[in-house]
Amino acid sequence: MAAPKIIIAIDGYSSCGKSTLARQLAAQLGYNYIDSGAMYRAVTLYFLRNGVDLSNPAQVDSALGSIHLHFEYNASRSKSEIFLNDENVERFIRDLIVAEKVSEVAAIREVRKFAVAQQQQMGKKRGIVMDGRDIGTVVFPDAELKIFMTADLEIRVKRRFEELCESGQEGTLEDVQHNLAMRDYIDSNREESPLRQAADALILDNSGLSREEQLEKVLAWVHERVAKQQPLLNKLS
Ligand code: DC
Repeated sequence: MAAPKIIIAIDGYSSCGKSTLARQLAAQLGYNYIDSGAMYRAVTLYFLRNGVDLSNPAQVDSALGSIHLHFEYNASRSKSEIFLNDENVERFIRDLIVAEKVSEVAAIREVRKFAVAQQQQMGKKRGIVMDGRDIGTVVFPDAELKIFMTADLEIRVKRRFEELCESGQEGTLEDVQHNLAMRDYIDSNREESPLRQAADALILDNSGLSREEQLEKVLAWVHERVAKQQPLLNKLS
């Protein structure tokens, strides 16, 4: 019998390496990886392009009604890429202009309702790894494995700066540090679904771990959780 498929929820601060871990796990397990932050970034891109006034609820509602998001798997990047109204916007959503606005947009209740409903729909098939800020607390409170990731701020700044340079974008180390600190603050202090560690989440501080060590550690957690599901499945078959 095939191993039961579980839901893996990964939450944590900006640039902790959540997406790297999520992608590795999905590839190893044959699961679908969904980057929930990409949805908030794509909504932000739409708002910026269309001059939506964030303080005007009617404008926000009407804009959300015109947004269709979907993911398509890109095998060459081992990643699902996000489409905003059928346009692949992966290369725009990581810009600093988007990063500077996204936490403000993600704090809007209607935006969260819009994104969370779609995320929960995607989880129905199970066999999913999703990363974000409220995945273990709000989106999938019943996820079989919840991970809360942290890493030292200095390390996170360096990682994000390297990503920015690799993708040929502008920005100094100071810009990145300021942006990360600001996003962590807003994400943790907003009223709607703030970043919190779920009570049953396992903490992963990867400041001193290589990618391989991190993956090995988490795969052991996954196998333990999958094994817990197996007897339940056997009872039903
Ligand atoms: O993971 P990221 O840096 O791409 O996320 C972009 C922003 O979206 C981040 O500042 C917080 C927000 N976000 C959120 O509020 N809830 C999520 N589940 C994912 C991201």
